[in-house]
Amino acid sequence: MKVLLGVTGSIAAYKALELARLLKRQGAEVRFVLTRSALEFVTPLSCQTLSGYEVYVDQFVLTTGIKHLTLCEWADILVVAPATANILGKAASGIGDDLLSTSLLSCQKPVLFVPAMDEGMWDNPIVKKNVAILKNNGFRFVDPVVGALASGKIGRGRFPSVAVIGKKIVSIIDKHRDLGGKKFLVTGGRTEEDIDPVRVVTNRSTGLMAAELIQAIFCRGGTVKAIVGEAACQLPDGMDITRVRTSAEMLDALKNDFSWCDCLIMAAAVGDYRPLDQSSIKIHDEKFELSLKKNIDLLKEITKEKGTRIVVGFSLETSDQLARAQHKMNKKNMDIVVFNTPAAIGAERAAVSMMKRNSEKEDLGDQTKWQIANRILDECILLMDSKACK
Ligand SMILES: Cc1cc2nc3c(=O)[nH]c(=O)nc-3n(C[C@H](O)[C@H](O)[C@H](O)COP(=O)(O)O)c2cc1C
Repeated sequence: MKVLLGVTGSIAAYKALELARLLKRQGAEVRFVLTRSALEFVTPLSCQTLSGYEVYVDQFVLTTGIKHLTLCEWADILVVAPATANILGKAASGIGDDLLSTSLLSCQKPVLFVPAMDEGMWDNPIVKKNVAILKNNGFRFVDPVVGALASGKIGRGRFPSVAVIGKKIVSIIDKHRDLGGKKFLVTGGRTEEDIDPVRVVTNRSTGLMAAELIQAIFCRGGTVKAIVGEAACQLPDGMDITRVRTSAEMLDALKNDFSWCDCLIMAAAVGDYRPLDQSSIKIHDEKFELSLKKNIDLLKEITKEKGTRIVVGFSLETSDQLARAQHKMNKKNMDIVVFNTPAAIGAERAAVSMMKRNSEKEDLGDQTKWQIANRILDECILLMDSKACK
């Protein structure tokens, strides 16, 4: 367990040292990031002695690697304890003006805030709004408790016990590594079919959904292979990704890898049609007719040998979404269908619905594709576990 412990300028900052000791006793590695204000309350020497690691404060130092990126890549979780009203406000507003706030902006691992402040600050409507924004965006909290505050008053705002925080950290990391030992095959991006050596028939998919799925599986400890067509987004580095162009190439790659996986998530926008004839030379005619023929349905084809694998497919329709999604789920032997409208193509966020076999559809509401990816994986793991129990 690797914990990046952010400490901010609260009177409770000394309790971060207690938390670090507890985590270390539980076998964790801990590295400290301090804000400038935190330096007024705890010394880097104490933090370094306790953690056994260099303590980080500045982001603009001559060093190898970019600190706010490499520290989060190293960590399983970023815990900000204690978190001041100030750091909550910065995180909720997207401000990155020091190493800790910039790390919070770029962190792709779970983040846990443990606020500590005077009751007046905690009850401030702006602080409340910032906490709500962060909670709604997937940041976790251990809320402050009622007790004696530094001001001498009794009220809510007190730093909770380190034992409670430690338990919360372990539960988040365990959940977050819940895909360990599971093998996922993800397809993504769009396929292209040649009209002539220059023009293609394709669609507007960017591959972002697949990119988020690949990253989320990796972060949650799963093994992932991906087959990706053309994509307009940055694909995660260092992953096992086979690049393809046409629907036929994607089918070949799927046939190679399907038997390897426990779960296939078919997020690729595979072209339904291809030109009947492909010209080997560039077409210059004033006018020409393009006839299309149906491509093989990849999911239907590949799920003939489905076995006990979990299969997730997507359905994008302009009308009759539920009926069409249900039809596709049966025809293509899927366990989960995620359906949406063309508004989802290329967008960072989408309002999708999800349906499992013999279940009602569930509307997920407007979410980022990262959140959608994680919801899909939550359902996959539930299905895998229930199959394993049978
Ligand atoms: C003695 C003292 C104690 C403070 N305790 C807290 C606190 O418990 N919680 C808090 O939100 N701010 C507290 N503050 C205010 C913060 O230190 C201040 O907002 C600072 O700018 C926070 O910077 P940081 O979030 O970058 O660490 C305290 C300030 C002082 C002088």
